[in-house]
Amino acid sequence: MAKTMGIEYNILIMNTLAKKTQGLYNAIAVPYNEAFPIHNHPEHRQFFIDRLRQGARILDAGCAGGRDTNFFSEKSFNATGIDFSAGEIAYAKTKYPNVDFREADLLRLPEIFPRAEFDGVYTYATLDHLRKRDIPRVVGNFNLILKMNGVLLLCTRKGKGVLWTDDNYSLHKKRRFTLMESDELQQMLRRKGFDIDQFETFPSLTRKNMEFNLALCRKIKDI
Ligand SMILES: C[S@@+](CC[C@H](N)C(=O)[O-])C[C@H]1O[C@@H](n2cnc3c(N)ncnc32)[C@H](O)[C@@H]1O
Repeated sequence: MAKTMGIEYNILIMNTLAKKTQGLYNAIAVPYNEAFPIHNHPEHRQFFIDRLRQGARILDAGCAGGRDTNFFSEKSFNATGIDFSAGEIAYAKTKYPNVDFREADLLRLPEIFPRAEFDGVYTYATLDHLRKRDIPRVVGNFNLILKMNGVLLLCTRKGKGVLWTDDNYSLHKKRRFTLMESDELQQMLRRKGFDIDQFETFPSLTRKNMEFNLALCRKIKDI
């Protein structure tokens, strides 16, 4: 009984966290996207597209207001942006009406994209919103939707445990981040069928003592 209650409790927490994150990004869509009209590290997007052929099929996983999906589209890639926040997707569709945006949860990617159709998956500052146990599942989903040798660029906050922040652009609503150390992230990526071509850490430009992991990987096996 206690075990059953424990499992139910975990599911409830997972749903609550996802719902809170969704609600938060719905509420902050305008200030969040207006705070970051320009990518802080445009060279990271460049690392990614340098590994892709012209016209390649790209998924921007956790696209928020669509800045990077639009960049990929303007570079003539066949890009789709997905996000589970209806507010973010509405913002993206209004700002970039000619780009393909869809409202979807990363945990359910294979239901939306049942075949390995992507040449590249780009996921920037997004997976750290998930519960730690869900991060490998989403990376596994990226494997499923990527073609063999497909490219994954993944950027997440680095460290141990959980970090809470609040900022002007989040209207001082608290955002929760699951931190991951570089070693554990790299091990997990390998377990999920990726070879790591390039790995680096870099400091946040906006927050003292915060660092990010950046991994540029290639799918080398199905899982
Ligand atoms: C910090 S923003 C990053 C947005 C963008 N990639 C960037 O670099 O500016 C994280 C985004 O991930 C989305 N997100 C978080 N968890 C998600 C999930 N499980 N499925 C889909 N989107 C999710 C949020 O709604 C939010 O728009």
